[in-house]
Amino acid sequence: MGLTVAVTGPTGEIGTAVVGALERDPRVDRIVGMARRPFDPAAHGWHRTEYRRGDVLDRAAVDGLVAGADVVVHLAFMIMGSRAEGERVNLAGSRNVFAAAPGRLVYTSSVAAYGYHADNPSPLTEDVPARGSSEHYYSAQKAACERLLHDVTKGAGRPVYVLRPSIVAGPDATILLRNLPWEPVAARTPEPLRRLLGAVPGLRPVLPDPGTRFQLVHHDDVAAAVVLAALGDAPPGAYNLAGDGDIGMADLAAAVGAHAVPIPAELVGLTAELIDFLPYLPAKLEWIHAARHPMLMDTGKARRDLGWTPRHTAAATLAAMAAAHRAG
Ligand SMILES: NC(=O)c1ccc[n+]([C@@H]2O[C@H](COP(=O)([O-])OP(=O)(O)OC[C@H]3O[C@@H](n4cnc5c(N)ncnc54)[C@H](OP(=O)(O)O)[C@@H]3O)[C@@H](O)[C@H]2O)c1
Repeated sequence: MGLTVAVTGPTGEIGTAVVGALERDPRVDRIVGMARRPFDPAAHGWHRTEYRRGDVLDRAAVDGLVAGADVVVHLAFMIMGSRAEGERVNLAGSRNVFAAAPGRLVYTSSVAAYGYHADNPSPLTEDVPARGSSEHYYSAQKAACERLLHDVTKGAGRPVYVLRPSIVAGPDATILLRNLPWEPVAARTPEPLRRLLGAVPGLRPVLPDPGTRFQLVHHDDVAAAVVLAALGDAPPGAYNLAGDGDIGMADLAAAVGAHAVPIPAELVGLTAELIDFLPYLPAKLEWIHAARHPMLMDTGKARRDLGWTPRHTAAATLAAMAAAHRAG
């Protein structure tokens, strides 16, 4: 008999790729997903997936989701939002899932769990402690969530897989581009005017480039890693995930038709410190910390022990994401 896999957050950018990959795997019999919005698995052509609406903050809903599951894949998380809302969903909600999961557990942490520290080795390996950065709510909560997972599951004999993807991108994962500084304005500008402005030299949007390099990983490659972990053939533990190669702001700017303007790296540090100092600024601005230091990961362990081979390079993933974003 095949596996029953319970998935929190199947409606998200990674979630849809994960459920699609589980649907295609003959070793999986049944998938049960839970998130808050209405969602129809049949609309994706999925026939072994059931969906129920529910909140990870509701312990009874979580218990119902995981009942009878061989594996729980925990993806539900609030990435862009406030620090306080994140504390609830990302920590209290994750605690419910970790405590309720009956067997094997797969949790998608992030490169951000390592924290943006000047003394980080480059590349980062899984032996480096996931310290997080207190000044960035997402990084702090990713590190806290890993500690929580350890505390809740230690001694229980449950195999736990912690996947740490770099920025996830691809045609169905455009969060990076949707959060570029000018996007809120662009989204409200009528299309003919956008095109006209884009054609005027000097009016193209500008991206500051402090020279920081970063990795991308395609959503389908993350989904493949989740399936490998869910099947349980590899040793439990933490695994870094990133596609081959890395990119910089100039590559990102070129992909979206913007100008990259070199700025001194010190300016990013100063701006980040200023943001920390000023109260009442939106939590979104804390993402500037992500550009302070290169956060490049070594993915040798995932390739060796998990048997994972990413199919998409950072450059190809960026191009696919930009094309999908342009197409709207
Ligand atoms: N995207 C990246 O670049 C990236 C990189 C590294 C790690 N990760 C991690 O990978 C995981 C999945 O990320 P993603 O990119 O798929 O995020 P996403 O697109 O924002 O999706 C988040 C998912 O969580 C669900 N969710 C949020 N709050 C919930 C709640 N209270 N109860 C139940 N479901 C809830 C959402 O569904 P509803 O809104 O319908 O409830 C959605 O399905 C997260 O842990 C994220 O931190 C992402």
